[in-house]
Amino acid sequence: MKKKFGTIALALIIGLTVVAIGLGFLFGPANPIPWVLMGGLALVVFFYNRREVESQLVWKDEYSVGVEKVDDDHKQLITLLNRFQTAYEYHTGEEFERTALNELINYTRYHFDREEELMKEHEYPDIEAHKAQHAAMIAEVEQFQKDYQARGHEALEGVATYLNEWLINHINGTDKLYVPYMADKR
Ligand SMILES: [Fe+2]
Repeated sequence: MKKKFGTIALALIIGLTVVAIGLGFLFGPANPIPWVLMGGLALVVFFYNRREVESQLVWKDEYSVGVEKVDDDHKQLITLLNRFQTAYEYHTGEEFERTALNELINYTRYHFDREEELMKEHEYPDIEAHKAQHAAMIAEVEQFQKDYQARGHEALEGVATYLNEWLINHINGTDKLYVPYMADKR
């Protein structure tokens, strides 16, 4: 919701500034005010776009667990999380929002299964504790899904930020613990 108001406010500022620039040029090109406004406008747009990019997750090499197919899954999860966040923040419509949420949940289930299979294969000793974290997360996202069915868009407030933080903390904490057991398993 906040993002929508932010976008409207930005559009309003741009609109008013463009009008002011037009009016300023009525006094001739030597008038410095429209030139200053144009510079200011360029800066506002630049910083707004940069903020947009920063608010989304971006894969970093430091997230790597050294197993290519797990890294690929994590990259895909980041893509789906960003898609879900965009669907929520820009009010893209219920169908897109619901699809993005379902895709994210389905891929999370698929990835957890794959990761658990891999841990089993390599006899990772803390597999049960790790599986318990996965199960707790699945229970949480199923609750998000139920809340969304009951309350719609408003039920998703804060969910993307929560999931972003959970994923990065899980990769950097819990997932990395199995790295030594899979060092040669690409
Ligand atoms: Fe995991």
